[in-house]
Amino acid sequence: MLDLTPDKASLEPIEIASRDEIAATQLSRMKWSLAHAYENVPHYRASFDEKGVHPDDLKTLSDLSKFPFTTKHDLRDNYPFGMFAVPRDKIARLHGSSGTTGKPTVVGYTARDIDIWSDLVARSIRASGGRPGDIVHVAYGYGLFTGGLGAHYGAERLGCTVVPVSGGMTERQVSLIDDFKPRVIMVTPSYMLSILDEFRRKGIDPRESSLAVGIFGAEPWTNSMRSEIEQAFDMHAVDIYGLSEIMGPGVANECVETKDGLHIWEDHFYPEIIDPVTGEVLPDGEMGELVFTTLSKEALPMVRYRTRDLTRLLPGTARSMRRMEKITGRSDDMIILRGVNVFPTQIEEQILKCAGLAPHFQIELSRTGRMDDMTVHVECTLAAADAEARAASARELAHHIKSTVGVSARIDVTEPGQVARSEGKAKRVVDNRPKA
Ligand code: DLL
Repeated sequence: MLDLTPDKASLEPIEIASRDEIAATQLSRMKWSLAHAYENVPHYRASFDEKGVHPDDLKTLSDLSKFPFTTKHDLRDNYPFGMFAVPRDKIARLHGSSGTTGKPTVVGYTARDIDIWSDLVARSIRASGGRPGDIVHVAYGYGLFTGGLGAHYGAERLGCTVVPVSGGMTERQVSLIDDFKPRVIMVTPSYMLSILDEFRRKGIDPRESSLAVGIFGAEPWTNSMRSEIEQAFDMHAVDIYGLSEIMGPGVANECVETKDGLHIWEDHFYPEIIDPVTGEVLPDGEMGELVFTTLSKEALPMVRYRTRDLTRLLPGTARSMRRMEKITGRSDDMIILRGVNVFPTQIEEQILKCAGLAPHFQIELSRTGRMDDMTVHVECTLAAADAEARAASARELAHHIKSTVGVSARIDVTEPGQVARSEGKAKRVVDNRPKA
């Protein structure tokens, strides 16, 4: 694969600034952001007052730990516009989070927020190996979901030619890639696999496609999946992270030259890792729940927002800003099976070790008597379609899961095409256990 290390001169100075410079920027912006939240959002005024803290109490970055957390519940309780810190007519755009239960959460942006978001996605695309002049195929969904429009504005800001395809209509995705010859694709990793299937169905060699860089995010995916996609398309697969409550895509991004975790754009988002049970701040390097404080957002300042995403903070490498390790899962997605914690990414990793299995899978949870059971529905590859080969793959996967994850799982190896395909975020777990 091509070496896509960017020219240092093309980076923004802050990306390679000293830690002292970054900390100074963070402190002055954090003071502004806390005061802005306190003065303009009744929720923050009440929660700060209740904790007995005032924005003026922030003298150093570590003083942030005195301030209260914000959760998704706070956004829901203030639905739709109660958390906004600017008058409604200053809101240039609304998006909604992908909440599957209850009311969605609404997020808002001023024109300046969108401007900064565009800059940060442009920075993310550049870090991934994209360059001005590239054709960028955007297959993240357009709409209330932040993926499509977030990617779109960032690619335009970098000076690319944007193809705003959105998700779905997989056949058309492949013809457009074949016809327009994009160098960059932005899409969820699970949908990229559906696109890969379609390449093969049409008899087009994906390695011969124009794609050189894929910018994949919005859901957890493993390094094994990275290798799978990189091999299949002969392209770089780079991780992009974000969440609507904080901004959307482009909160953190990997650098193509290192692919060693995601650099958090710390000049706009201050990260902390906390113990999810006690709320205590953990030192860098320790695993816990990721918490963000926005440093420049006007419409929706977020103070210590609990993401529920599990990761750890690592020092900078290709950039001075700290990295977060590739996310293994959300606390909400964790399956507790007979006392063992299991994340879907652990299952993904084991599937990718089995040559006869394709990376399309879904986990089903059920209950017989008082015992929870886990069934992994996974497809065989075309080459392994006979019953005996499928049974052998099932035994192999069950063995890998038992010996590495530590649980017994029933494996259902299906024919190719039987597991529901994703057109956006994949649904990895179906919980059929009776509700308590
Ligand atoms: O998924 C924003 C986004 C769009 C990110 C496109 C990247 C690309 P939400 O729908 O609010 O926003 O979902 C946010 O998705 O808290 C994580 O649990 C998960 N997530 C996002 N990116 C990654 C990633 C968008 N790279 C939630 N790895 C987050 C793992 C991710 N999980």
